Amino acid sequence: IKEGGENLRSIICCIMGHVDSGKTKLLDCIRGTNVQEGEAGGITQQIGATYFPAKNIRERTRELKADAKLKVPGLLVIDTPGHESFTNLRSRGSSLCDLAILVVDIKHGLEPQTIESLNLLRMRNTEFIIALNKVDRLYGWKTCKNAPIVKAMKQQNKDVTNEFNIRLTDIITQFKEQGLNTEIYYKNKEMGETFSIVPTSAKSGEGVPDLLLWLVQWAQKTMVEKLTYVDEVQCTVLEVKVIEGHGTTIDVVLVNGELHEGDQIVVCGLQGPIVTTIRALLTPHPMKELRVKGTYLHHKEIKAAQGIKITAQGLEHAIAGTSLHVVGPDDDIEAMKESAMEDMESVLSRIDKSGEGVYVQTSTLGSLEALLEFLKTPAVNIPVSGIGIGPVHKKDIMKAGVMLEKKKEYATILAFDVKVTTEARELADEMGVKIFCADIIYQLFNQFQVYIENIKE
Ligand code: GTP
Ligand code: MG
Ligand code: NA
Repeated sequence: IKEGGENLRSIICCIMGHVDSGKTKLLDCIRGTNVQEGEAGGITQQIGATYFPAKNIRERTRELKADAKLKVPGLLVIDTPGHESFTNLRSRGSSLCDLAILVVDIKHGLEPQTIESLNLLRMRNTEFIIALNKVDRLYGWKTCKNAPIVKAMKQQNKDVTNEFNIRLTDIITQFKEQGLNTEIYYKNKEMGETFSIVPTSAKSGEGVPDLLLWLVQWAQKTMVEKLTYVDEVQCTVLEVKVIEGHGTTIDVVLVNGELHEGDQIVVCGLQGPIVTTIRALLTPHPMKELRVKGTYLHHKEIKAAQGIKITAQGLEHAIAGTSLHVVGPDDDIEAMKESAMEDMESVLSRIDKSGEGVYVQTSTLGSLEALLEFLKTPAVNIPVSGIGIGPVHKKDIMKAGVMLEKKKEYATILAFDVKVTTEARELADEMGVKIFCADIIYQLFNQFQVYIENIKE
């Protein structure tokens, strides 16, 4: 039991917004990491999670309010991609969170995925704060590293303040056009009805203390009931990944309850329900990103809320976005298997029923869903007949090779963010199966497009 007598779990916050508005960079700024610079093409293509313990938040917000009472153990932030292909991941992220940060680039204003994110949040009645990011790009901005925004604004000259005010007013109008009242946060007298805007720089940290403090205080003030810890396990699979030395693992967000090493679990799988036993419960160090390979902490048990990597046997076909169930002593496994499978219809519905189409192989199920979604859009419209996850092996070439007899141009593997084994490559050359590799989704489309056009000529 924490101070104040309440037993609260950590807050789950999702960070959303248009591509390149600075979501990952903002998290880097809070973490003191460099995740963004390591991303292919500088874009996020997986959902991530980072845990910020209360003591770090306290340190980071000290300048604002020395006595900020934190009743929650910490903050779990879910990073989402802003690229248009990843609607499914934004939807998954936003469905998990207690509240959200909507990031807007001050120089760009509202963009298509800002509006899409906004609508996802409104649909679920999720509270959010707007981070008006990249204020350091205002011409003549004087850096005040990690300072509260009011203090930073006081250091700026008239021209900067003017440009800031013009852009802010403009963006407030743009939100109004979306039916949303917004106001800079320290002037906002109608919290809850009017959404707050916090100017930030992910590059030099101005406004970041304000953002953190607002999140925690708002959650503690208005969501005590939602944040009260309950024992019943509520857990969602974020991603399914092959990790060297661990085999196929699942990244999950534990929203409530506790997980233990050795727990029997049921997860939704492509080929039916998966019943297995938790072999290891791993987390990155606090303030490190779950989706980035690093050293993991091993736990005997973990309490919500937390982002966790689970290793267990038989997870190869687990499906991201579905619920994880823990089998208790009195539970009926058959009933659990059934409810675990309810989540999966959407993925399978994307595979072409005609049996004619390309073969798609990706590093994670999250990216598979995204790629399937992308290939389905009218502008792209490439049918898919088969799917796989992890490195491309000979068996995948064999499967894709089936198309040689049906529709030769579909005897193709679109490989996203995965390796192709030497044997697979050799077999593909022998059989005449084409492999296109890329680590940015739309590059795959471009390569395939050129290939199809060449065939036609
Ligand atoms: P996606 O995940 O791909 O949707 O993008 P994102 O919203 O995570 O943006 P990201 O963190 O990748 O930042 C995009 C670019 O903007 C990078 O080059 C960052 O260095 C830059 N950037 C982000 N925030 C700031 C900021 O506050 N100031 C400045 N000057 N540059 C920023
Ligand atoms: Mg990002
Ligand atoms: Na980016």
